[in-house]
Amino acid sequence: MSENKANKILFVGSEATPFAATGGLGDVLGSLPAALKRERGENIDIRVVIPMYGSISDDDRINFEKVCEFTVNLSWRQQYCGVYKCERNGVIYYFIDNEFYFKRSSMYGSFDDGERYAFFCKAVLEMMPHIGFFPDILHAHDWQSALSVIYLKRKYRYFEEYSHMKAIYTIHNIEYQGIYGFEILSDIFCLDSWDRYIVEYDGCINLTKGAIVCCDRLTTVSPNYANEIQTEYFSHGLHYIIAMNRDKITGIVNGIDYDNYNPEKDTELKRHFSSDNQIQKNVDKAELQNMFSLPERRDVPVIAMISRLASHKGFDLVKRVLEEIVTCDDVQFVLLGTGERDLEDYFSYMANKYPDRVGVKLAFNKTLAKQIYAGADIFLMPSKSEPCGLAQMIASRYGTVPVVRETGGLYDTIKPYNPEDKTGNGITFKTYNAHDMYDAVRRAIELFKNKRQWKTLRTNAMNTDFSWNSSAIKYLEMYDNL
Ligand code: GLC
Repeated sequence: MSENKANKILFVGSEATPFAATGGLGDVLGSLPAALKRERGENIDIRVVIPMYGSISDDDRINFEKVCEFTVNLSWRQQYCGVYKCERNGVIYYFIDNEFYFKRSSMYGSFDDGERYAFFCKAVLEMMPHIGFFPDILHAHDWQSALSVIYLKRKYRYFEEYSHMKAIYTIHNIEYQGIYGFEILSDIFCLDSWDRYIVEYDGCINLTKGAIVCCDRLTTVSPNYANEIQTEYFSHGLHYIIAMNRDKITGIVNGIDYDNYNPEKDTELKRHFSSDNQIQKNVDKAELQNMFSLPERRDVPVIAMISRLASHKGFDLVKRVLEEIVTCDDVQFVLLGTGERDLEDYFSYMANKYPDRVGVKLAFNKTLAKQIYAGADIFLMPSKSEPCGLAQMIASRYGTVPVVRETGGLYDTIKPYNPEDKTGNGITFKTYNAHDMYDAVRRAIELFKNKRQWKTLRTNAMNTDFSWNSSAIKYLEMYDNL
């Protein structure tokens, strides 16, 4: 292994595909490590650690091997901790086992999430001597792993084996910060009163703030979002802290897993296609229309959304104008997602009212998601904020043209189509306003009618490089510079 480069990296996070995931964070922890490995081969030893959730399938567990067990002291608690591992694409994945904390019906949302992830973070640092791996870089992701950075910098670095370790903290979404009352500072988080100022923010313990202050480098998942979170509108209260630490920030846009998302090979698709041969996409479109009981018509554009049903994904705008869109234009609309109850009710209502135009499935279903990415024409993503966003990239790869709001990573990844010089890979709008979104959708519908222009735009989308390659290199450069 080369001497002056960071060779040993440990990713710490709360989810990773294919083992356990609820969103984009899981995709990143499931695909970025392999991309780093591909880039640097034998010269990097990259490992990932996540909790061993009850939801991890038996098919995955068969490949797990128990590495060790020990006790983690969380204040007065003495908790069992098992460590399991398996290898995937040249990357070792570790799983922190404690059924009391992680064998639950859902990954997040328990009253004691603070304690569960404090245990997880403490276990991560405690496991290092047991597994004989002391990374050069501990790369933590989002608030659930923030304490691993804080523990390293406030406690463990005083021990020799930990003293060389650098910490990177990546913000995937600043909305979720890990905010708690001070009564659990020592009783659960095991922090001393002199650590109080590290985590204190706005009268509470704020774990994200603590990690921002403690880390050596701070990253977010797109350059534009790195700027946005320094402003009040996007920061969910943390702009002062981010701005004070601005020297540490880098924004690196996410990639997607090109092996997993591949319209030329996906087993879930009825027919395969590529940017050079797009014709079979029509068969997948017909299949999609059938699945949603919509009339099988090639001439009508299918607008799709695949999203958690949360208002920051732009659903206020959709609710405001969807009825206008599906009644004024000859279009079909399909939606896949679960989430906030009022949004679920709204879309069910729309599907009942316009059965020939609106198709809705309230579910989280990866196979169906791929069939939608492949079969639709237009992919709508009008987020209020979007740290990076993966769906617009996946849609592009499947030739479904994204219509996005110019925010966060959507701004960095999707450039408006210019019919004059035929550049651009999507359609965009700026202001968070329902009729601005509607206008963008109409522009897409008009372009769809012009077969030649549409093919050019679709080809541009499909040919945009959203693989991890260039971003993996940026991460490696950062590791090396540290
Ligand atoms: C979060 C963000 C999303 C990002 C993903 C992966 O889910 O909301 O924009 O793509 O993390 O970084």
